[in-house]
Amino acid sequence: MLSNTLKVGALLGLAIASPVHASESSSNECRCFPTDDCWPSVSVWNAFNQSVDGRLVATVPLATSCHAPHYNKEICDELREGWDMPEEHYKSSSSFMAPFFTNGTCDPYHPVSKPCRLGNFVRYAVNVSTPTHVAKTLQFATEHNIRFIIRNTGHDYNGKSTGAGAISVWTHHLKDIEFKDWSDKYYTGKAAKLGAGIQGIEAYEAAHERGLRMVSGECPTVGLAGGYSQGGGHSALNSRYGLGADQVLEWEVIDGNGNFLTANREENTDLYWALSGGGGGTYGVVWSMTSKAHEDTKVSGLNLTFTTTGISDETFFKAVEFYNSRLPYIVDEGVMSLCFLTNTSFAVEPMTGPGVPLAKLESLIEPVLKEFTRLGINYTYQSEEFDSYLDQFNTQVPVVTVGVAQYGSWLLPRTVVESSNDLHELTNSIRTVLAEDATFTTVAVNVSKEVTGDVYNAVNPAWRTAIAHTLMSTVWEYDEPKKMQEKRDLMTNKLVPAVSRLGPNSGAYLNECDFQQPNWQYAFYGKNYQTLRSIKQKYDPHHLFYGLTAVGSEDWTVSYSGRMCRSNGSASHIEI
Ligand SMILES: Cc1cc2nc3c(=O)[nH]c(=O)nc-3n(C[C@H](O)[C@H](O)[C@H](O)COP(=O)(O)OP(=O)(O)OC[C@H]3O[C@@H](n4cnc5c(N)ncnc54)[C@H](O)[C@@H]3O)c2cc1C
Ligand SMILES: *[C@@H]1O[C@H](CO)[C@@H](O)[C@H](O)[C@H]1NC(C)=O
Ligand SMILES: *[C@@H]1O[C@H](CO)[C@@H](O)[C@H](O)[C@H]1NC(C)=O
Ligand SMILES: *[C@@H]1O[C@H](CO)[C@@H](O)[C@H](O)[C@H]1NC(C)=O
Ligand SMILES: *[C@@H]1O[C@H](CO)[C@@H](O)[C@H](O)[C@H]1NC(C)=O
Ligand SMILES: *[C@@H]1O[C@H](CO)[C@@H](O)[C@H](O)[C@H]1NC(C)=O
Ligand SMILES: *[C@@H]1O[C@H](CO)[C@@H](O)[C@H](O)[C@H]1NC(C)=O
Ligand SMILES: *[C@@H]1O[C@H](CO)[C@@H](O)[C@H](O)[C@H]1NC(C)=O
Ligand SMILES: *[C@@H]1O[C@H](CO)[C@@H](O)[C@H](O)[C@H]1NC(C)=O
Repeated sequence: MLSNTLKVGALLGLAIASPVHASESSSNECRCFPTDDCWPSVSVWNAFNQSVDGRLVATVPLATSCHAPHYNKEICDELREGWDMPEEHYKSSSSFMAPFFTNGTCDPYHPVSKPCRLGNFVRYAVNVSTPTHVAKTLQFATEHNIRFIIRNTGHDYNGKSTGAGAISVWTHHLKDIEFKDWSDKYYTGKAAKLGAGIQGIEAYEAAHERGLRMVSGECPTVGLAGGYSQGGGHSALNSRYGLGADQVLEWEVIDGNGNFLTANREENTDLYWALSGGGGGTYGVVWSMTSKAHEDTKVSGLNLTFTTTGISDETFFKAVEFYNSRLPYIVDEGVMSLCFLTNTSFAVEPMTGPGVPLAKLESLIEPVLKEFTRLGINYTYQSEEFDSYLDQFNTQVPVVTVGVAQYGSWLLPRTVVESSNDLHELTNSIRTVLAEDATFTTVAVNVSKEVTGDVYNAVNPAWRTAIAHTLMSTVWEYDEPKKMQEKRDLMTNKLVPAVSRLGPNSGAYLNECDFQQPNWQYAFYGKNYQTLRSIKQKYDPHHLFYGLTAVGSEDWTVSYSGRMCRSNGSASHIEI
């Protein structure tokens, strides 16, 4: 992908200066919008297209065939069928998975008679294949004062990989992967250098072939070097090795000046620190990520489910409470446990023990099974030992769907499940959440310093003392905007507070959070916020990198119509 000789400053020929119509002038208080006079003419776009080797893609929304005058029943039916699968969206240069931000402008669920509008989709994507394409796009966006977006897979729940009237660099096709030996003061062992477009399953499979495994998500298609690792990264391997961000050894990145930089613990260390956990789309365009790859071993896994049929509420919540009380014993053995609760079901699906013998994993769950039996619960339970992490992943991790929900989250302090009083309060909180027909998911981990070893990064410190990332969700309905906003507010005003009251000084996982979270700077970044802001200022002097709830995003306001302008004083960062 990239010759190793391309080093710092190699792109200086392109170094980006402030445009002649300086960005400080009042006309630049807002980004140039497609309906404005400042929007580049067709000939300017064509010249730009040539400068990026013809890789400029004008957006045609994915669901165009679902609306007049381009309606095509067959294509539209097929699109609707696959709309909740990630692959339908990440293959497109503009589609994305967070339904709230689609704003109903073009999807398979609105009336055919309603014409497609570009709405929050980017206008153009540059299908980049070289760092120069990235730098030229940054330069063009700066010169023409156009909103800039980094788009990888479009998984982001806060719509951070899309934007009205924007141009994006689209990193999806950067698929190089190279395994190597790494040795420095902090880590000696196997590593993999991943192009920015590598997705979880691609890394899993490539590592597997070499007897290795890598930390990535339950969703096989998240962008490993993109928002996933940059934002933290939870995984079935977390309690063994730490978060995704804890694995990173080095980034190659094109900063807001168009410079190609290498960032690690010796060089551009501030940028390395910020990119590793401080949030995607904020400090620069990542070109590659080099992360630890671990020796694969046998992996034990289990699943345990029951429904509320025939059991009382009391019994259900006693079972839930008992399970939660066991979490510290479970995660401290290197195990991650994923538990989904609805108002009618309990499902641990799966519990994963990398390198944990089956008998050991079974002994960890045994007290839970005993208690369920004592409570008269008819549960389903299966456990198995696999030869590799990939085998366990392919067999026991359920299929994930997208565009079906709205989310909120809170990192649950470990102390909550270690005190019987707080544990009981947690159960009450879960009752509150489930009573609103929301789901309550816990991703139980131990990513403390004892697990991660010597790492240096901007991961939200709340992760280090958390027993679980709790994720709440409510069902999404495409044609009910008013009701969806009510559900959004329910999340902000009732569901997240029901959990955050148990640990108000903790925080939330920035990649799977409520974008209306009050005091989000602290909640998502903790005490790192001001440092991250100053690092951003250094590497993004032209303020190109914006994403809702990203560091520094309070400086901008995106109006309902999609126009992006400088905020007035303490103005909110989005109008909804
Ligand atoms: C179905 C589903 C399952 C998920 N499962 C998990 C999970 O198991 N564990 C977990 O931790 N998270 C999970 N997530 C959340 C996921 O980590 C985030 O959505 C993450 O932001 C995805 O990153 P991406 O690059 O794939 O997505 P995108 O939406 O393309 O990008 C996300 C953000 O990263 C930025 N970005 C992307 N590429 C780059 C780059 N090269 N340089 C700089 N910035 C970049 C974008 O600008 C945007 O701000 C899941 C999300 C979904 C929708
Ligand atoms: C950019 O150029 C290529 C090759 O000439 C062309 O196929 C493509 O349609 C152009 N993109 C735009 C947006 O005009
Ligand atoms: C979102 O939808 C509303 C209502 O149709 C519309 O007024 C607004 O302009 C839309 N925003 C964008 C960015 O398209
Ligand atoms: C993007 O570029 C890749 C090669 O880098 C190519 O395979 C793919 O077809 C391109 N996609 C579009 C939509 O231009
Ligand atoms: C996490 O597990 C490690 C290893 O078992 C243990 O030393 C550490 O105390 C645990 N972390 C916390 C926060 O208890
Ligand atoms: C327990 O559940 C299984 C199927 O899930 C069912 O076949 C069985 O009859 C149930 N037993 C009792 C005692 O309810
Ligand atoms: C539960 O685990 C068993 C044993 O590995 C597996 O066969 C089954 O598919 C798993 N069930 C689910 C729902 O993942
Ligand atoms: C459970 O929640 C669903 C929606 O998720 C709702 O339709 C149903 O009525 C609820 N059932 C009970 C028993 O509360
Ligand atoms: C800033 O304030 C001015 C004057 O009150 C107003 O016209 C403008 O819309 C505001 N802009 C934003 C982004 O809030």
